[in-house]
Amino acid sequence: MPKKVGILISGRGSNMMALVENAGEAYEVAVVASDKPEAPGLTWALEHGIPIFALSPKGIGKPAYEAALSAALREAGVEIVALAGYMRLLSDEFVADWRGRIVNIHPSLLPAYKGLDTHQRAIGAGETEAGCSVHIVTEELDAGDVLGQARVPILPDDDAETLAARVLAEEHRLYPRVLAEFAAR
Ligand code: GRF
Repeated sequence: MPKKVGILISGRGSNMMALVENAGEAYEVAVVASDKPEAPGLTWALEHGIPIFALSPKGIGKPAYEAALSAALREAGVEIVALAGYMRLLSDEFVADWRGRIVNIHPSLLPAYKGLDTHQRAIGAGETEAGCSVHIVTEELDAGDVLGQARVPILPDDDAETLAARVLAEEHRLYPRVLAEFAAR
């Protein structure tokens, strides 16, 4: 039986699309959830027959928002939570609730360049290589065990945009493969 995955997005959701399109024997996508009801990825998910859950924390506060999110994930039978461009920090309580079952993709070769603006920082530091990492989510930002990485060269003419595009193409290959391995454990 494939494991049921809930994907959390905040924006365009290209990694979510790659996860949906490459689901198979190891995992299936049970729900796509977002803190941004207007996230373009939600429309795509609906068009592809995937249930969605959209709720903004604005007005209700983070604890109520996360409680509703957790309940929706459980209701969908979710066993693994996959963050894909989810731009909010999960509370310690949420992380504890789903301990060891939340994964994320980060656009750097962790432990290097945690946090935001990774491509510009890597170029600015004169790196010749960049990449992406899939890791377990813990209470500490971008610090959980790394499950898999992909590498790309940084070319002399790169700016943050060209590098981000090269890395993103690798994200779309890496995330489904690593999630399938993780789900098969
Ligand atoms: C990706 O670069 C991902 O690594 C980062 O945020 C971006 C999300 O892009 N966490 P998308 O929404 O999956 O297209």
